[in-house]
Formats: sequence, C-alpha cells, structure tokens
Amino acid sequence: MKTEMKMKDGRVLTIRNAEVADAAAMVDYVNMVSGESDNLSFGQGEFGISVEDEMKYVAGLNDGNFNFMLLGTVDGKIVTMASISRPHRPRVKHIGDFGISVAKEYWGLGIGRQMCLATINRARRVGVSKIDLKVRVDNLNAIALYESVGFRHEGITTRALKIGDQYFSNLMMGIEL
Ligand SMILES: CC(C)(COP(=O)(O)OP(=O)(O)OC[C@H]1O[C@@H](n2cnc3c(N)ncnc32)[C@H](O)[C@@H]1OP(=O)(O)O)[C@@H](O)C(=O)NCCC(=O)NCCS
Repeated sequence: MKTEMKMKDGRVLTIRNAEVADAAAMVDYVNMVSGESDNLSFGQGEFGISVEDEMKYVAGLNDGNFNFMLLGTVDGKIVTMASISRPHRPRVKHIGDFGISVAKEYWGLGIGRQMCLATINRARRVGVSKIDLKVRVDNLNAIALYESVGFRHEGITTRALKIGDQYFSNLMMGIEL
C-alpha cells in the first residue's frame, strides 16, 4: 500500500507501511517527537526502544493484516506515524488501539487528518470493527481532529498520565467501523 496526497502547502505526503529498513529512522523520529509535546505517554528520552527492538517489532507486523503501522514521509523523511495494535484473544481482537503523532514542524498541514483516514480505511479492511484511542483531555486540537473523522467521546479516566508532579486525565474516544 502506498498513497500520495498534496498537503496544504503543496508538498506531497506519501503514506505507506513501515518496513524493517525504516527502524532506525523510526526510532530517531519518535525520539524527536517525544520532546515536542506533553501529549504522548512518554517524554524526551523516555521512549526506551532500541533500533533492534524496533526492527523486531516491525518484522512481527508481517503483512500488516493484524497490527499495522503507517508512516508518512515528505521528501523521503518520516514526518508522521500511526499505528493500530490489537489483542489476540477472539472476543477482543476486533478492537484496534490507535496511536498517532505528527512532527511539530508539520502540524496544521492536514497530515493528521490524512493519517486518521488512512488508518480507519486500513483497519476496516483488516477486520477491525472498533477503534479506541486515548487523548489528554486538554489536547483540544487532537480531540477536534478525532471528532471530525467520526470518533465519539466514550468517557474519562483520571490520573492517566503523571508528568512531573501533575496528573492528567484522558478522554477515551472510539469509532465503530
Ligand atoms: C494532534 C496532531 C496529530 C494533529 O496533527 P496535524 O497534522 O497538525 O492535524 P491536521 O493539520 O490534519 O488538522 C486536522 C484538524 O485538527 C485540528 N487542529 C490541528 N491543529 C490545530 C490548531 N493549531 N488549532 C486548532 N485546531 C487544530 C483541527 O480540527 C483540524 O481541522 P481543520 O484543518 O479542518 O481545521 C498533532 O498536532 C500532533 O502530533 N500532536 C502531538 C502529539 C499528539 O498530540 N498526538 C495525539 C495523542 S492522542
């Protein structure tokens, strides 16, 4: 799978499956975005995944028909990642847990929306009938994005993140496919 689309600034975003050969660039990308906002479940230097771990993880995705990870590149550079992770047990394997990030330099260009739509389409094709995500209650831009592609509010969990001494609640959002 490979799709290309024009961003708001006219440059081209390519969305494709992550491959083992991307592992080093993926780790570099995640280490970079982890320092760019406090909206992820890990901060600067807290990702803790080596290139070797990442290679094993991507190799384990096989053909992307169960769990998958999509990369978005601009001029060959990774600028966004989105993933769906599913539990294996029969009664819950229809649920895909969604994660997404966009490099700060590229925010506001329509990339987040395209990655959400690409993830939803792929999830539907591989048998996911429910996507769940968690987002910090004060991450209003992300919440607006998720609402606009069809996610609904499903509840709030308190003390979901602890950053320094401060706790943050998460909003649970979901979409039925
Ligand atoms: C949240 C995030 C993924 C959005 O990605 P993005 O590429 O900037 O989003 P888009 O350009 O596709 O914008 C889509 C929608 O998001 C919302 N949005 C994005 N940036 C916004 C901003 N600065 N102000 C207001 N709304 C904004 C709007 O609803 C926008 O729709 P519009 O273009 O019709 O106005 C990105 O900001 C990000 O990676 N943030 C840090 C990590 C993070 O928060 N991840 C999600 C954790 S759950």
